[in-house]
Amino acid sequence: MLMRLKQGLFHQANITMLKNDTSNAITTVRTVSDLRNILKIWRNNKLTVGLVPTMGALHDGHFSLIKRSLSLSDRTIVTLFVNPKQFGSNEDFDTYPTDELSDIKALENLSVDVIFAPSTEEMYPTGNITNISIPDIGDLLEGAFRPGFFDAVATVVCKLFMISSPDFAFFGEKDYQQLLIIEKMVQDLNIPTEIVGCPIIRSKDGLALSSRNVYLSEKDRLVAPLLYKILNEILDDAKNGEELKKTLNNAKMNLLNSGFTQIDYLKICDKKYLTELNNFSFDARILGAAWIGNTRLIDNIRVN
Ligand code: PAF
Repeated sequence: MLMRLKQGLFHQANITMLKNDTSNAITTVRTVSDLRNILKIWRNNKLTVGLVPTMGALHDGHFSLIKRSLSLSDRTIVTLFVNPKQFGSNEDFDTYPTDELSDIKALENLSVDVIFAPSTEEMYPTGNITNISIPDIGDLLEGAFRPGFFDAVATVVCKLFMISSPDFAFFGEKDYQQLLIIEKMVQDLNIPTEIVGCPIIRSKDGLALSSRNVYLSEKDRLVAPLLYKILNEILDDAKNGEELKKTLNNAKMNLLNSGFTQIDYLKICDKKYLTELNNFSFDARILGAAWIGNTRLIDNIRVN
């Protein structure tokens, strides 16, 4: 690994400063100091840096973020780190899908510049650490169902920003609330990184891509796209002037009658603050979280 890192540094520093290595081999970095050594060289050469934070188990949704970074930044870092702090005690940390080898292969094919895949000890050497907490918006929707989740996400993303000082960082609209929270954190803490939100990538049948979709049984996979369909029906009804409360209640009943087992929320919210709206507005976002058996799906659509 060290040799590859050195070769990478040599290449970056002395040979061409071209975008890609001649070989497809990618530099996988495990420590903060190794990453900072590479960044120092990039910075000395006035190269812009794009960061794509992920928890691995990469799919086309991630690849769209990475492609956006490759097109906007001189250098792209993809992080692979399953952040234990953002999983509740009853959640799926132990079973969260991971396949580092296949992720690395995919990232090599995309010509990403560096993978940052630290261990938990590297990210949290002292265990309990300073926590970033995002008020108000962090307590709504996902925050209400997953207490502490957004603190943990904001904290790890803030650490990744402090480690790499990226010019750009890329997040999918699939996790719309997470995107707003990162934008707020960057604004509140004067972090000089531009947050780039990227559209949701869906399967042909409408299901939003997610690493957790692998949990769905064959039968449940057929039911899952209904969440997206229902969000669109809510939008149509709302635009047609139907009463929102009635529309949302009907939508919940439809989901439950079609195989969903529990609805955490289905709401029309202000697109910036995520407060629930009583009257339809074009400044809205429609968001939902629902379970099929043991699998929790989230999705959202824009209004316009
Ligand atoms: O969206 C995710 O995959 C994670 O929440 C993130 C942003 C990588 C932080 O762990």
